[in-house]
Amino acid sequence: MVDPTHTAAWRALRAHHEKVSDLHMRALFSDDPDRAVRFSLTLNDLLFDYSKNRITDQTISLLTELCEQCGVRDWIARMFSGEAINETEGRAVLHTALRNREDRSVTVDGADVMPGVRRVLSQMRDFTTSVREGTWTGHTARAITDVVNIGIGGSDLGPVMVTEALRPYWKQGLRAHFVSNVDGTHLSEVLRQVQPETTLFIIASKTFATQETLVNARSARRWLVERLGSEDAVAKHFVAVSTNRDAVVEFGIDPAHMFEFWDWVGGRYSLWSAVGLCIATVIGMDHFEELLAGAYEVDEHFRTAPLRENIPVVMAALGVWYHNFFGASSHAVLPYDQSLHRFPAYLQQADMESNGKSASRDGAIISDYTTGPVVWGEPGTNAQHAFFQLLHQGTHLIPCDFIVAAQSYNAIPLHQDILVANCIAQAEAMMRGKTADEARAELEHSDLSEDQVTALVPHKTFAGNRPSSTLMVEKLTPGALGRLVALYEHKIFVQGVIWNIYSFDQWGVELGKQLAKAIVPELRGSEGEHDGSTRQLIAYYRRHKGPGT
Ligand code: F6P
Repeated sequence: MVDPTHTAAWRALRAHHEKVSDLHMRALFSDDPDRAVRFSLTLNDLLFDYSKNRITDQTISLLTELCEQCGVRDWIARMFSGEAINETEGRAVLHTALRNREDRSVTVDGADVMPGVRRVLSQMRDFTTSVREGTWTGHTARAITDVVNIGIGGSDLGPVMVTEALRPYWKQGLRAHFVSNVDGTHLSEVLRQVQPETTLFIIASKTFATQETLVNARSARRWLVERLGSEDAVAKHFVAVSTNRDAVVEFGIDPAHMFEFWDWVGGRYSLWSAVGLCIATVIGMDHFEELLAGAYEVDEHFRTAPLRENIPVVMAALGVWYHNFFGASSHAVLPYDQSLHRFPAYLQQADMESNGKSASRDGAIISDYTTGPVVWGEPGTNAQHAFFQLLHQGTHLIPCDFIVAAQSYNAIPLHQDILVANCIAQAEAMMRGKTADEARAELEHSDLSEDQVTALVPHKTFAGNRPSSTLMVEKLTPGALGRLVALYEHKIFVQGVIWNIYSFDQWGVELGKQLAKAIVPELRGSEGEHDGSTRQLIAYYRRHKGPGT
């Protein structure tokens, strides 16, 4: 267990920060014509340009040193080897096994998990092919036209993000829908769009114990049985994805229609497992396997590339540089791609549920440094017209990731050029800013008086020196998306290693769940012990609750 602040590299980074924090990237670029090339890495079609960061060669050397001293290499090897590095749950962390495209065995407790992985992939192929070809039919012998994934958290966010991103690959006449929120509006809105005879529900839950998912699943089942007039209909319209066979059977789903995965797959890392069944149904198993292959390429890169040339390691190190040395408490992710509109939401769970921790691996409460930043974002160019003001001129330093594909699936003349120009321009503007002299020179061409110009200059000045990295791909194919997602997964892992926390548990979500379970009966009439505010809120709801709840 290494407290990062006790390493020599951390101390050296502190001293280095004092020296370089005032350097302006404008100057760094003009002094060094090779900067963009030296601070870029490529992987397949992906270009990771991290040159618009407040770094020098020495920064990268020291950050790499920090990774070494925190044992990043060793942790990478331990993860891939199937060791139980998710210590507080006593589990291995092997989402990488799900996309292992070679014959290499992967063992957990002495047993090779790969035969099971391949068996489920082949079960997914058979099933999705039968749905897509119309040989899997519903209770009234009609083919399936709509797939509704019912799940939440990792059993929703990854699948919905990928499904949306890969819309161009959807089979015509087959649609995917997602229900996650226990708010009855979510299920009702989806059910309004589908017909019971042609709808397949996929109940995705690792534990098959998640309240929201089970409540939504039961209501969906009632809706179906009422409309098709028979309990027998459930067998042809409900399948499950879970690690919990008993609970699936108890729910009434035939175990032959259950797709298994394993406790060594974390919920937020599970889109590569059978949790991706809805993805595979609409895009087809070949494309799903291309997604896996893209992620596998990154796994191999992550496992073997030297730390300094290792893209997820560099992404992680830059995040630590800003978070722990510049005090940046958030990180913005800005896909310039409408099809990635759920990417920031997906990443919020992946990152914040992993690294939003304050107990160190040895159980001490971390007090001398901070962990996991707030991750947020929206697609560009919409985001420019919402919160970019703050990114450019606000008082917070917010490092940004720009993500963009060169080619669009919907090439309307001019649109892509404008989209990409905006993406590139925003990164440039954040880096270079606009000096007071430049602002004044622009204003001097206007009709304003000298006093008016002077008054306006501070408002029209941009300090610049705002860091960003750009991830550019040729086209958002399944493979490119697989690469992108895997890069972020491994980045999160490396940061957790540096911060000396366990990234693969999520105990922090438990307390609220426990309390909600206790409050439900109280909203329906029973009494409980609470503080004054909680009692007041319960009483208000009981007085005003509507019918039919
Ligand atoms: O509440 C958090 C969480 O446990 C996530 O980690 C998980 O992805 C989600 O709930 C859903 O869990 P399950 O797949 O078991 O329903």
